[in-house]
Amino acid sequence: MFAVHYTEFGGPEVLHLAEAAAPHPLQNQIRVRVKAAGVSPVDAALRSGRTPMSARLALPHIPGVDAAGVVDEIGPGVTGVAPGDEVFGSVELAGLGGASAEFAILRSWAPKPATMPWAQAGAAGTSVETATRALDLLDVHPGMTLLIDGAAGGVGSVAVQLAVARGARVIGTARPSNHDFLRKLGATPITYGPDLPTRVTSTNHPLNPTSAGANRALDPAGAHLDHARDVAGTRDVRALNADGAPADRAHSAAGALDHHALNAAGARVDRALDVAGAGVDRALDAAGPRVDRALDAAGPRVDRALDAAGPRVDRALDVAGAGSLPELISLTGDPASVLSLADFSAASHGVRLSMGELAGEPHGRHGLRAAAELFTQGRFVIPIEAEFSLMNAAAAHTAVESGSRRGKIVLILDDHPA
Ligand SMILES: NC(=O)c1ccc[n+]([C@@H]2O[C@H](COP(=O)([O-])OP(=O)(O)OC[C@H]3O[C@@H](n4cnc5c(N)ncnc54)[C@H](OP(=O)(O)O)[C@@H]3O)[C@@H](O)[C@H]2O)c1
Repeated sequence: MFAVHYTEFGGPEVLHLAEAAAPHPLQNQIRVRVKAAGVSPVDAALRSGRTPMSARLALPHIPGVDAAGVVDEIGPGVTGVAPGDEVFGSVELAGLGGASAEFAILRSWAPKPATMPWAQAGAAGTSVETATRALDLLDVHPGMTLLIDGAAGGVGSVAVQLAVARGARVIGTARPSNHDFLRKLGATPITYGPDLPTRVTSTNHPLNPTSAGANRALDPAGAHLDHARDVAGTRDVRALNADGAPADRAHSAAGALDHHALNAAGARVDRALDVAGAGVDRALDAAGPRVDRALDAAGPRVDRALDAAGPRVDRALDVAGAGSLPELISLTGDPASVLSLADFSAASHGVRLSMGELAGEPHGRHGLRAAAELFTQGRFVIPIEAEFSLMNAAAAHTAVESGSRRGKIVLILDDHPA
């Protein structure tokens, strides 16, 4: 078969297309004829030789851990999939590669939705697994606010969408030119970098309305209360006026010590007060239920608005490894509510660093089927920043190392390159 490989560590220029022995699936594995293969930062790091994990590679090495393709061999113990099926997933991660090739062995997979482009399917595997694992570990559930630091990248953009699908409100950090991209994925964007808590606090976003939302929530109650008071007040005044005039006239008449007039006046005053009293009572009665309804209606909205108005972040996911852990802890108030995927100093902050199966943790492979289902519902995409042919694998690695990201880089295998 043909494959991208490298025989020495170094820059993207060490990548070459070459002939390689075709692999065959072992227990619980399948082989696919690859249609697309993702390129991730870890592939570039391994190729560079700068990560300690590079020492585990036997050269020549075929990079790539994610692929999508058509099943053509089934390993022992595998059920529920047949040759000819279109699937997407990841290789055996312990092997740290093998996907950038004509044939790849997958260890985890899910059926590819018929409408999912090959590029998206090929790039999905580890991003979906990682994001799912992180959201599981953080126990992200409906109504929570999750902050994702590094939300526009391969893992972050997937985590945003899966968290929104779980019913969470998501604040995502990215460079300003990626803010619209994050909005489209369902997150409220803010710029990453120092002083994150201040920007989170001053964020006025629709998912998390601040003062405007609070005012809107309070207004209905206020308006009803004012209206009720006005109604009562007007009737009260009208009643007192109506009383006042006859009473004055009665008092004039009484000036001549005419007890009859006084009595008559008194009676009229009493009647007037009775009328006024009833009016006030009716007004208050009428207002009462409306005030109650208004307060009832306002209550939850006020609570939501007040919740939202504060800088409360329930959980924080560090995808970037850019040194933000102390700020993420200050935002959530608890290191246990923060998870890092990329900061190797996490333990010194009391924060968990998740490395997945390689570290013996529970995996998030079930996320593949969930993502496929969400895709068919139009609620999920794998954002693709750029596609390259297998011949241009070096350019794909260069792109991955460029730093700025809106989703994934992917290799497309349309035809045999020979
Ligand atoms: N532990 C695990 O299981 C696991 C699994 C997969 C990946 N990872 C790691 O997770 C990290 C991200 O992977 P990825 O595939 O998502 O990488 P990626 O596609 O290259 O994305 C990285 C993102 O980081 C953002 N970023 C750059 N500087 C930042 C800063 N100072 N603060 C916050 N964000 C910043 C960039 O945002 P802009 O584009 O907006 O500048 C970019 O979108 C890598 O370190 C990778 O090795 C860990």
